[in-house]
Amino acid sequence: MAGYSNKETEEGVGLLSGGDRKNDTLVFVVPHKIGKVRYDILKSASEKNKICTTKTFSSHVTHVVTECSSKAQLFRLMKWTEGSPLYRSARYLKLSWLTDSIKNKSPVEIVNCHLLSDDELESKCQELHAAKEESKLVSKYECQRSTPLHHQNENLTDALSAVEEEAEILDRKEDYSRALAFCKAACSLKCLTKPVSSIQDIKGLPNIGDHSRDIIKEILENGFSREVERIKNDHSLQKKKMFMSIYGVGPSTARKWVDVLQLATIEDVINCPSINPRKEARLAYGIAFHEDLKQQVGRTTAMRIRDIVHNELKTLDGEVTVEVTGGFRRGKQFGHDVDLLISHPVEGRETGLLQKLIHRLNSKGLILHGVMEESTFSEEMLSKSSKLTPKGQLDHFEKWIGIMKFPKNLETTPQDSVRDRKETIKDEFKEEGKKRIKLDHSLTVTDHNHIGSGLQEQINKSFQKSSTSYSPSPASLPSSSDLSELVKLAQSEREWRASRVDLIIAPASQYAYALVGWTGSKMFNRSLRLYAQRELDMKLTSHGLFDMKQRKPIQASSEQEVFEILKLQYRNPEERNC
Ligand code: CTP
Ligand code: MN
Ligand code: MN
Repeated sequence: MAGYSNKETEEGVGLLSGGDRKNDTLVFVVPHKIGKVRYDILKSASEKNKICTTKTFSSHVTHVVTECSSKAQLFRLMKWTEGSPLYRSARYLKLSWLTDSIKNKSPVEIVNCHLLSDDELESKCQELHAAKEESKLVSKYECQRSTPLHHQNENLTDALSAVEEEAEILDRKEDYSRALAFCKAACSLKCLTKPVSSIQDIKGLPNIGDHSRDIIKEILENGFSREVERIKNDHSLQKKKMFMSIYGVGPSTARKWVDVLQLATIEDVINCPSINPRKEARLAYGIAFHEDLKQQVGRTTAMRIRDIVHNELKTLDGEVTVEVTGGFRRGKQFGHDVDLLISHPVEGRETGLLQKLIHRLNSKGLILHGVMEESTFSEEMLSKSSKLTPKGQLDHFEKWIGIMKFPKNLETTPQDSVRDRKETIKDEFKEEGKKRIKLDHSLTVTDHNHIGSGLQEQINKSFQKSSTSYSPSPASLPSSSDLSELVKLAQSEREWRASRVDLIIAPASQYAYALVGWTGSKMFNRSLRLYAQRELDMKLTSHGLFDMKQRKPIQASSEQEVFEILKLQYRNPEERNC
């Protein structure tokens, strides 16, 4: 009976058959996580087998049994101080030690499987704890968070993107807010640093609505979502999605082609007599060059297009700047187009550049098709209220939206073109995304010098070799948008590939805001603008920031300054992938 006092045990309520207890064993059964019924069963079974248990801890306790996964978790739960002499003499075990002892009708020898695994389990427990804490730390606005391109929950965000995409294709009145809700839910998951393993992990995470939660829960439990599977197997929807990948086709055209005209393939579109894209040149080019355009533009190609454009601009004005924006600036290796932001350090010197640039590019046979938009900016626009539309906010910059002819011989090494043409790169770049980006940057720096001198020669070479009757002089550009003519051109053997390019002209005074706006993502912009409006009573656009209270615009000369004025932590472009 050493180290054991009846009085204390009586007070402790739990002493069972004290006089007969075996081997001076006193077991403290930690009631947490056990459940009352089970606890009572264990208690009476122990009693029956003369294993003494207590409901309170004391220095006489020899064995502590618990459902906690680690000693540390137990101590945290009980608010005990680890290292205190009081807790030193007891053994801390899993509940299985007690159940084994009950079966044995006597305390069993402690073996490995009875031990609480402190290291492994503790770290797991801490991880889960941290994950739960992390979800509580996710800020309300997407622009307040760091959202990387690749993250820990891509299976879940891919599923949410699929339902978002369905809403975009259906495009009914209620679908905009549905699509937005799925997108926002995915954004919240993208900034978590650990994979979600149970629905508990997303407790407290902002912007996860019931529908998104159900999808996440189903994937966590079953490995798939019935809704996503349904979408994948919805042939009509998949056809609309394919048509929407055509340049110039939106959801309503796609729906009409599938639901009314019963079209299924590009060939069907080309051969359909009731489709007359003559009126809409962009659509004719989109259909004819779909094979080229559906392949994503690789990073190396994007940098080369930047160089080509910059070289032409330099002949007009040596100080012009050209920056690759959009997805590439956010670290993407592939994009559906190349977004180039053009500016000049001296305000006003940017005017007239775009016209001349397009003329030069065209005379070199580098333009396939494009539409020029004049600047529609005026000072009042800085403060004019405008709605955040589903497709983002339209800006008022002078721009050219079109298709360039990228010489195939500039696609550098065969590996480069293979790499650039790969449509899905997720796995390849998941681990070394950042490294690869750096590598590509250095590559373009050296290449830049290299092609700087020989660029025109290379471009000429690629077009001289052209074996088709088509010669890339401006005069021979197809004058009409006759679809069959364009299809013939697209199917001919050619030395160039069609690539979507956006060229935007921003005056120096608006450059910082334009850079933020054209870097995106669209969701990041949306969040930034909403935040500015709601939290600061300021109106943010790609042209500037307007203080609505003081009724005056606020100038910024760098992206850092824009974030500073908005009282936000600066985010690198790579962190704006929400
Ligand atoms: N943008 C804009 N005004 C437009 C079109 C685009 O401000 N009229 C912005 C968008 O917010 C986006 C960026 O410009 O962040 C680039 O647009 P886009 O090329 O459509 O998207 P990316 O993010 O570059 O995606 P991708 O890689 O598929 O090209
Ligand atoms: Mn883009
Ligand atoms: Mn674009």
